[in-house]
Amino acid sequence: MARSMNDIVDEIKSRINIVDVVGRYVSLKKAGNNYKGRCPFHNEKTPSFIVSEQKQIYKCFGCDEGGDVIRFVMKVENIDFMDSLDILGKEINIDVKKELSNDFDKSSIKKKRKYYDMNLYIAKFYFNNLKNDNQARNYLEDRGLSNKIINRFGIGFASDSWEESKKFLKDKNFLESEIYENGLITKTKKGNFIDKFRNRIIFPIFNIKNEIIGFGGRVIDNKSIPKYLNSPETIVFNKRYNLYALNFVRKYSNKDYIIVVEGYMDVVSLNQYGITNVVASLGTALTIEQVKLLKRYYKKIVLCYDMDDAGVKATNRAIELLNTEKLNVKVLTLEDCKDPDEYIRKKGISKFNNRLQNAVTDIEFFIEQIRKKHNLNNSKEKTKYTQEVCSLLKTIDSEVKKEYYVKLLSKETDIAYDVISGEVFGGKKFKKDFNKKTYSKKNFKKKMLKNENLKIKFNKNDILEKNLILTFIEAKNFELKTHILKLEKDYMILDMTKEFLNSLDSVENFNLFLDKYQSSLQEFKELNYNDSLDFFNSLDILKKEIVTRKIKKLSLRQKELEKNKDGNENLEKQLIEIANEIMSLKKSL
Ligand code: UTP
Ligand code: MN
Repeated sequence: MARSMNDIVDEIKSRINIVDVVGRYVSLKKAGNNYKGRCPFHNEKTPSFIVSEQKQIYKCFGCDEGGDVIRFVMKVENIDFMDSLDILGKEINIDVKKELSNDFDKSSIKKKRKYYDMNLYIAKFYFNNLKNDNQARNYLEDRGLSNKIINRFGIGFASDSWEESKKFLKDKNFLESEIYENGLITKTKKGNFIDKFRNRIIFPIFNIKNEIIGFGGRVIDNKSIPKYLNSPETIVFNKRYNLYALNFVRKYSNKDYIIVVEGYMDVVSLNQYGITNVVASLGTALTIEQVKLLKRYYKKIVLCYDMDDAGVKATNRAIELLNTEKLNVKVLTLEDCKDPDEYIRKKGISKFNNRLQNAVTDIEFFIEQIRKKHNLNNSKEKTKYTQEVCSLLKTIDSEVKKEYYVKLLSKETDIAYDVISGEVFGGKKFKKDFNKKTYSKKNFKKKMLKNENLKIKFNKNDILEKNLILTFIEAKNFELKTHILKLEKDYMILDMTKEFLNSLDSVENFNLFLDKYQSSLQEFKELNYNDSLDFFNSLDILKKEIVTRKIKKLSLRQKELEKNKDGNENLEKQLIEIANEIMSLKKSL
């Protein structure tokens, strides 16, 4: 298969994971959403080299080097762009040099042109066929399609014949082998070639340059299977890289957003009602390549998938992809209709436009799904709902958006704003579900205290106190100080912690504290590879530790007093008080 330089670059970037490639040269550790390691391009002790799996880029905050996977290989191997493509291409079985060599390119471009021509001939043939077939025409009429729309999309009909298309194309001097390679005939078990599309409505599929690259064919009854047959992948039909009707959107619409639906019929039917900014993927789930294609033209995407479970799942996946490309996503849901085609035919254009106006954000769509799982009249369920939504809100990158949804959730649940905001803003890095085992407090503490790197250098008290300070700093949220100020200074072991608590009265003092202890905290941080650090977890652990320390102190005093208690009423009294206090402290653990 021949690809252009752009195709090759796109394919390499979409099929090779930068984390794997960089990982061969640099030891990477997961850090939040990203990976972190020591920069291979300059000498450094502290890792400041970040790889983003989501964005498929790397960046060193020490020396400023950064880019995509192709650049990384160029830099690290000290080779030029073409050689980098060549090395990476080999990993996914693309012979880059060969594909880009002139001969190969020329002959394959010629071949592609031939196949576009073949598709155009046969599309016209199917289109004319439709005019002569009452049954097929009635079918489309029943589905509400006018001639204008049938013509716009070039919809046709392949009649119930085994060899009609083959004969037609052979008469046009195409070879059987070419017709076969272009996916218009199939081979039977006996080795005969027969038409692929028989007795089906034909939807020609165009690329953005208006060339016909393949076909989708729908049965005209509602029982034959499969309902749709699509052209196979060919040298001109690359399903991952194309979207149904994108060419028509460019031609007929000047809107600044685009609607993505699941089916050919949804696209056509919405066009029938004047909605021309609609595309569908090609019989598969939306791909990252299609998302990148959309992104070239549109930054705002409205998803309007079928309303069944599969549609909801597909919506979730599509949102994820669209988010990795930082596109603005909205979701249009349609009550009691199975798909956009049915909706617009049943309820009309103004209702549809109304739904479109009220399309929800991706976050609102997720919240709605969580809401559906819980009965909000039951207080336990309501708590669960709130917790799940909080977990979701923590994953939003924008603080402003977070704030917006925190307010909304507080209003909806009647749970105080401070509580929800504490939960959402508190543990910045604590993105996973509350219930997840690995993140339970017990495991967290175990993991932290077991960290071999830490144990060599620090004792348990060091770890607990420094960890809290560090998580406070990492959370980058000064509002959290009220939670810390309740800690009792006297029970802190490290001077650093005492000074830390004293410094929280103002940002200036806190900055002075940071200056003083920066290097010592940095050293602790480097050894501390625990990526699930969470402010409230750390605080809880330290609070418990303080209770333990109090008990220890009281027990010592107890022992002291026991020695000379005999006959001393006052001491006896004190001892009872101490015993009581120890008991209540133990209870609180
Ligand atoms: P739908 O079943 O929703 O089809 O499949 P539709 O477009 O709404 O068509 P109608 O209304 O039933 O006539 C959505 C898309 O999934 C692909 C097609 O691209 C279809 O448009 N598909 C579906 C297939 O490729 N094969 C199938 O058998 C079914
Ligand atoms: Mn449908």
